[in-house]
Amino acid sequence: MTEMTTVTDTAAPAPKLPTLPDAQTVTEVKHWTDRLFSFRCTRPASLRFRSGEFVMIGLMGDPDPKTGKQKPLLRAYSIASPSWDEELEFYSIKVQDGPLTSKLQHIEVGDQIILRPKPVGTLVHDALLPGKRIWFFATGTGFAPFASLLREPQTYEDYDEVIITHTCREAGELQYGHDLIEALKDDELLNDVIGDGFWKKIKYYPTTTREKSPKMGRITDLMRKGEAFEDLGVAPINPQDDRAMVCGNLAFNLEIKAMLEDYGLEEGANSKPAQYVVEKAFLD
Ligand SMILES: Cc1cc2nc3c(=O)[nH]c(=O)nc-3n(C[C@H](O)[C@H](O)[C@H](O)COP(=O)(O)OP(=O)(O)OC[C@H]3O[C@@H](n4cnc5c(N)ncnc54)[C@H](O)[C@@H]3O)c2cc1C
Ligand SMILES: NC(=O)c1ccc[n+]([C@@H]2O[C@H](COP(=O)([O-])OP(=O)(O)OC[C@H]3O[C@@H](n4cnc5c(N)ncnc54)[C@H](OP(=O)(O)O)[C@@H]3O)[C@@H](O)[C@H]2O)c1
Repeated sequence: MTEMTTVTDTAAPAPKLPTLPDAQTVTEVKHWTDRLFSFRCTRPASLRFRSGEFVMIGLMGDPDPKTGKQKPLLRAYSIASPSWDEELEFYSIKVQDGPLTSKLQHIEVGDQIILRPKPVGTLVHDALLPGKRIWFFATGTGFAPFASLLREPQTYEDYDEVIITHTCREAGELQYGHDLIEALKDDELLNDVIGDGFWKKIKYYPTTTREKSPKMGRITDLMRKGEAFEDLGVAPINPQDDRAMVCGNLAFNLEIKAMLEDYGLEEGANSKPAQYVVEKAFLD
């Protein structure tokens, strides 16, 4: 009797869990502020990408009221982890009425997300000519591609100095970047692979615009006044030594692009490497 029951149970088809297309499993979630969180997930074995690139990720959308069918709801996301990492990391905004992030902000370890394994982007070392100093200019979640590039050995092989500026409205919005940079000091693997003390090449320049912090102001204004160069102890940007990558809101990107052109730098692309590259941190 017991045996028969066992046989029947085994033979019955197991209930199928709904499987997402290109599903990956969430392995870690951290909430930084009420507007920002980061998470890690499994990496598809076939996914190869260059540090700094982005992919489309998302969740299944709500069922269509007429057909009941669900379609994937996807958005562009910079991969915040470096190309060598076994997992993938993302750093995300929470837009309260945002179609994707109003849901994505509630993911938990073990949940599945959709990840289309087709990485693209301009914030890659291949798009820049050799130089002495690399500037990473970020606002808000525009820090994400630099979270990848700051953990990429090539960054330190190619440059003597790595300057990362991050401008946010509030101090709490700097925490993810601050912690990530601090953690590089004790990262045994990176110190081993790149060289002990590689992180000493980094000059970190966090600023806030709407909440008090040790350094206040937009990076653009601080550079125009010369204050940023003084604080950092570096010469103003010049086309011989300096290379730059920019990732922020549209107005920021346009402003810093014009400034870099004034310093004499030319925009590069994957197909035509030059002295700086730009990518939007979000669409408007
Ligand atoms: C190339 C590229 C890379 C991107 N990488 C990232 C990333 O790494 N992390 C990330 O959080 N977002 C990133 N985005 C934005 C992302 O694609 C989505 O817009 C975001 O996840 C919000 O999706 P949503 O559907 O909730 O709202 P949406 O309908 O997409 O956006 C609603 C509104 O929210 C605001 N908004 C959207 N994204 C942001 C943001 N990141 N920061 C501040 N305000 C925003 C805008 O005003 C937008 O109109 C990237 C966008 C592009 C084009
Ligand atoms: N951050 C928040 O607390 C908050 C809260 C609720 C809603 N939102 C909404 O979310 C959206 C995105 O906000 P966000 O704060 O993530 O990104 P954001 O508006 O792009 O601002 C990020 C940082 O970039 C600075 N900046 C903007 N334009 C610039 C330029 N041309 N040159 C140099 N620096 C520039 C901002 O300074 P300034 O402060 O001087 O503009 C701010 O410090 C906005 O639509 C906003 O209304 C934000």
